Amino acid sequence: MKTRAAVLRKAPGEWEIAELDLDGPRQGELLVRVVASGLCHSDDHLAKGDMGMRLLPVVAGHEGSGVVEEVGRDTPGWSVGDHVVTSFVPSCGRCRWCSSGMQNLCDTGAGTLWGTRDDGSVRLSEHGRPISQMSGLGTFSQWMTISTLSAVKIPGDLPLDVMCLVGCGVPTGWGSAVNSAQVRPGHTVIVMGIGGIGINAVQGAAHAGATTVIAVDPVEMKREVALDLGATHAVGDMAAATDIARSFTNGQGADSCVICVGITTGEHIAQGVEAIRKAGICVITGIGSDERTGIPVSPTHLTLFQKRIQGSLCGESNLNTDVLLMTQLYQQGKLHLDELVTRRYRLEEINEGYADMHAGKNIRGIIVHQH
Ligand SMILES: NC(=O)c1ccc[n+]([C@@H]2O[C@H](COP(=O)([O-])OP(=O)(O)OC[C@H]3O[C@@H](n4cnc5c(N)ncnc54)[C@H](O)[C@@H]3O)[C@@H](O)[C@H]2O)c1
Ligand SMILES: [Zn+2]
Ligand SMILES: [Zn+2]
Repeated sequence: MKTRAAVLRKAPGEWEIAELDLDGPRQGELLVRVVASGLCHSDDHLAKGDMGMRLLPVVAGHEGSGVVEEVGRDTPGWSVGDHVVTSFVPSCGRCRWCSSGMQNLCDTGAGTLWGTRDDGSVRLSEHGRPISQMSGLGTFSQWMTISTLSAVKIPGDLPLDVMCLVGCGVPTGWGSAVNSAQVRPGHTVIVMGIGGIGINAVQGAAHAGATTVIAVDPVEMKREVALDLGATHAVGDMAAATDIARSFTNGQGADSCVICVGITTGEHIAQGVEAIRKAGICVITGIGSDERTGIPVSPTHLTLFQKRIQGSLCGESNLNTDVLLMTQLYQQGKLHLDELVTRRYRLEEINEGYADMHAGKNIRGIIVHQH
C-alpha cells in the first residue's frame, strides 16, 4: 500500500514529504493507521545529525498512537480495531532486562533506534529502495507496519491524538523523576528544561510527593505552564534554582535534579551535580550531540559527597504496565496531557513544527495525520 510520510534523506537535513510503499504485516506484526505523533526532540537530533543513523533515508517519529488495521500471523491477543500507543524500545518479555523489570533496556531494542530489524529487512521503500523506520516505528508516516513488541494496547475510549504523548514524553519525563530520581515525599527537586519531557518530570515529581519542585527554563511560557502543572517555583537559570533549593534544605541542595534540556551538554550536567545535596541524584534524560562528550565534574567531588549521576532511558519505564497506569491517572485527572499539546500540525507542516520547538513556542507540538 501507499503511505505519505516525512523522510529524512541526509543528516543534517530537513523532513521531506514523500509517498512511500509500505509492506503489510508479517509474522508477529501489525499494520497501524497512525492517528498522531509527537514532535519529540529526539527525532530532531537525527535531523540535525546529533545522533548518527546507520541507515538513511529514514522515516522517524517514535511517539505515536493509532488503530490496528491488519494483524499478521502469530499475533495472539491483537485484533483489528485495537487502539495502540507505540513503545520506542520493543519489549520481548523474555530477555534478562524484560524479566527483571527493565523493559526499557530490552535486548531487542539494541538496533531499532537506528532503524534496522534483526534480519535486516525493511517494510518501507521508495521506488524499490529501502527506507528505515526509526525505533522500528516511523510515526511520521500515515501508516506503519510494526512488531507487536513495539505496541501497547490502550482502552478504546481515550482521545487517541493526545495519547501519542504516552509513547515517549510522558513515561520518559514522569519516570525520570519517579523512578530514576527516586523522588520521595518532602523532596526538593529541580527539573531543568521544560519541553515535552521536562513537563512530565515536573508532574511526576509533584505526584511522588516532592514539596518543592523547581522548574528551570529560559522561556517564560514554559515556566508558566510548569507552575500550572505542579512546579512550586520556576526560574530562568540553574544559579537561581540552586539558590532556591538550598534555601529549602538548610543549605544542602536539591535531593535530585532531572536534566531534560533539548541539547544536553556536559556543562548542564555539571550544573545539576552542583545543585544537588550529598548522596543526591542527578538524572540525565536529555540527549546531546555525539560529538560533544565530557562532563566537567570533579571525580573527588562525586566521591566525597557521594553523589550519583544516573542516566535514564524512557524514564526506566515498563511500558506494558506503565502505559495503563498513566492512562488511568489521566482519566482520574491526576496526570495532565491535554494541556501539554500546544499546537496540532498537519504532516506537511512538520518542519514548521520543529522550528516552533526550537523557538520555544511549544510544550509539545503533535502531528495529526489525515487519511
Ligand atoms: N532519555 C530518553 O529516553 C529520552 C526520551 C525522549 C527524549 N529525550 C531527550 O530529552 C531532551 C528533551 O526533549 P524534549 O522533546 O522535551 O525537548 P524540547 O526542545 O521540547 O525541550 C527542551 C527544553 O529545554 C530548554 N532549555 C534549553 N537550554 C536550557 C538551559 N540551559 N536550562 C534550562 N532549560 C533549557 C528549552 O527552552 C526547552 O524548553 C532531548 O534531548 C531529547 O532528545 C530523551
Ligand atoms: Zn521521544
Ligand atoms: Zn526483552
